[in-house]
Amino acid sequence: MSQAHHPWEAVDLAMKASQVDTMSLPKLSYLTADQERIPNDKSIKEVILKRRSAQAMDFARSHISLEQFTQLLHSVTAPVDSYRERVHFVIFVHDVETLESGLYFYIRNNAHKSALKRLTRNDFLWQEQKIENLYLLEKGDFRSQAKFISCSQDIASDSAFALGMITEFNEPIKSYGAHEYKELYWECGEIGQQLYLEATALGLNATGIGCYLDDVMHRMLGLDNETFQTMYHFTVGRAILDTRVSMREPYPNRT
Ligand SMILES: Cc1cc2nc3c(=O)[nH]c(=O)nc-3n(C[C@H](O)[C@H](O)[C@H](O)COP(=O)(O)O)c2cc1C
Repeated sequence: MSQAHHPWEAVDLAMKASQVDTMSLPKLSYLTADQERIPNDKSIKEVILKRRSAQAMDFARSHISLEQFTQLLHSVTAPVDSYRERVHFVIFVHDVETLESGLYFYIRNNAHKSALKRLTRNDFLWQEQKIENLYLLEKGDFRSQAKFISCSQDIASDSAFALGMITEFNEPIKSYGAHEYKELYWECGEIGQQLYLEATALGLNATGIGCYLDDVMHRMLGLDNETFQTMYHFTVGRAILDTRVSMREPYPNRT
């Protein structure tokens, strides 16, 4: 929003350190779309044009169905053969039909499950759920923790759920070089975009959360080294629309 560019040395240093001359890294295919879906008459064009970030979530209408929750997770389930998949979700479930409120892990690559179990708090329950690869870690109301970790933003507590993307961190950077740091962010970003679109298709709202307290999140989980790190947060619920903002059709002159 500034009129002039403000240099931020740390960003320039990170850019320089993670630069590569050629993009010769293996390309990943992260997502599968062959799961059973809730019937939907919206076209992908409608969904893309309608997608907006929620500025505020409606706490009174935060409830979503288990079917909606499942579809959101399944839309970002990794392909079974994706051994290089390294993004997992720690989910703050606030208000999802039949699921107990609490802290959950959604494991997107089973090869990491034992390491995650070993490196996180040993009093976590790891209780299996009906949704494959979803585990309840701790029961309870995590709205205020989700909010605090998200730089005190209400969007993380007034939603149906919020999540942190916990990625394998040290090993990919050691194996593929510093540029992998960016690749990990891109991977999280792609998953976030898919969650945005899926939420929109379901008539829900979402917001990516780039402002979060990673050290607090790691402490809450018991992570005390950089084997896994949280790299992006996200929240899904029902938005409060600000009626003072006028809405227009996006790109009305284009078909
Ligand atoms: C990586 C990323 C991080 C974001 N972090 C936040 C955040 O911490 N808080 C917030 O209110 N919105 C956040 N947003 C939402 C942006 O503010 C929003 O995408 C932007 O204003 C454009 O609006 P739109 O998504 O409706 O097109 C984030 C979006 C992205 C993609």
